[in-house]
Amino acid sequence: MKSRLLLVVLVIALLSVFGVVSAQDEAPSGELEIFSWWAGDEGPALEALIAVYAAQYPDVEVINATVTGGSGVNARAVLKTRMLGGTPPASFQVHAGQELTGTWVIADRMEPLTDLFVAQGWNEAFPAQLIEQISYEGDVYSVPVNIHRSNVMWSNPAKLEEWGIAAPATWDEFLVACPTLQAAGVTPLVVGEAWTVNHLWESVALGVLGADGWAGIWSGETAADGPEMLAVWDKFSEILACSNVGVDSAGLSWQQAIDKVIAGEAAFNIMGDWAAGYMVTTLELEPGVGFGFNASPDTAGTFMWLSDSFGLPVGSPNPVATVAWLELLGSVEGQNAFNPLKGSIPARIDAVSAEPDLYNTYLQAAAADWASNDLAGSLAHGVAANERFMGDFNQVIEIYLASGSSAAASAAFKAVCATSGACG
Ligand code: GAL
Repeated sequence: MKSRLLLVVLVIALLSVFGVVSAQDEAPSGELEIFSWWAGDEGPALEALIAVYAAQYPDVEVINATVTGGSGVNARAVLKTRMLGGTPPASFQVHAGQELTGTWVIADRMEPLTDLFVAQGWNEAFPAQLIEQISYEGDVYSVPVNIHRSNVMWSNPAKLEEWGIAAPATWDEFLVACPTLQAAGVTPLVVGEAWTVNHLWESVALGVLGADGWAGIWSGETAADGPEMLAVWDKFSEILACSNVGVDSAGLSWQQAIDKVIAGEAAFNIMGDWAAGYMVTTLELEPGVGFGFNASPDTAGTFMWLSDSFGLPVGSPNPVATVAWLELLGSVEGQNAFNPLKGSIPARIDAVSAEPDLYNTYLQAAAADWASNDLAGSLAHGVAANERFMGDFNQVIEIYLASGSSAAASAAFKAVCATSGACG
């Protein structure tokens, strides 16, 4: 009886091995729908990657399905409907960290890619702490294509010189420069639509709390309504008073906010380094000349990171073509086609050194900081907290903007921590 059972188990195991092997041997063909929010000005890097794929797999028709809206605000809603409705795209953009694991993986909506990682040698090619962020209970679930930095302050060097102002290393320096800029008719700090206010908040919080204090929010060591967090909201208040929030911010995309810095209508903007991609690839500006970059105030030495990745959803309509897509994403060739245009650095540790000339001075500086700085995971871009927290955090910011009360914001933050289970 026992030996028959063993035989059955062996046969099943062999069949599944052959199943996998034959699926991989099959030449990719048919349609491949890649779902992301990289539309319009955000598109060139993805389009370059798709071009490489199309050349490798001419029998596949790639559908570049995009839903416009910075940081995926609209795309994620569409994705949720499709995933829950049982019509997932072949592969979709998802941030490494809680957005992947705490949302889709725990709901059993993603296929494990552990064997693919072994077969491709990716466990050695990606940094261990990044693999940790895309893993759950021993399996790996997505392929990271890049590393973006969230805590960057952008400026226009020629304009700063004209105004006699240096890029501030601290928020206190910024607050000193603020009235001078306002008197010259310049917005000291430009922000855009709602999610970019959240984006600013995480840089301010990192500056006030430091990397350990920031990590402490998510482990429960930094009390959501404690004195440190009250100090974050107080600082945020002073900074917003030097911004266009409540004036014209709601109508500006992140690109339009950057445009105001380049035009000299605003002095500074805090945005992730997709802004570098936009300024280099679309506006054709030279890093350090056409635009300036610094760690956001009070955060030098800490790299607040996020990573765009793609996975294989359960029920993906074309797994063979999708696995071929993932193999390209994780390769040196794929990462070097994508990142120089995107304003991000490769997630692979060996890609920049393979073709250093592809990477401009901004990207070289980002790669050096990524290798040497303290790391902090972004909240606004999916690393630190699950989608439940992220959704409700929008309301925390709204409560804060409406009330101007640090105590009210802290209390709301604490409540959201409790309902989402995101804070330790
Ligand atoms: C981030 C994403 C970046 C960029 C940005 C602006 O969430 O990771 O790749 O697209 O949003 O839309």
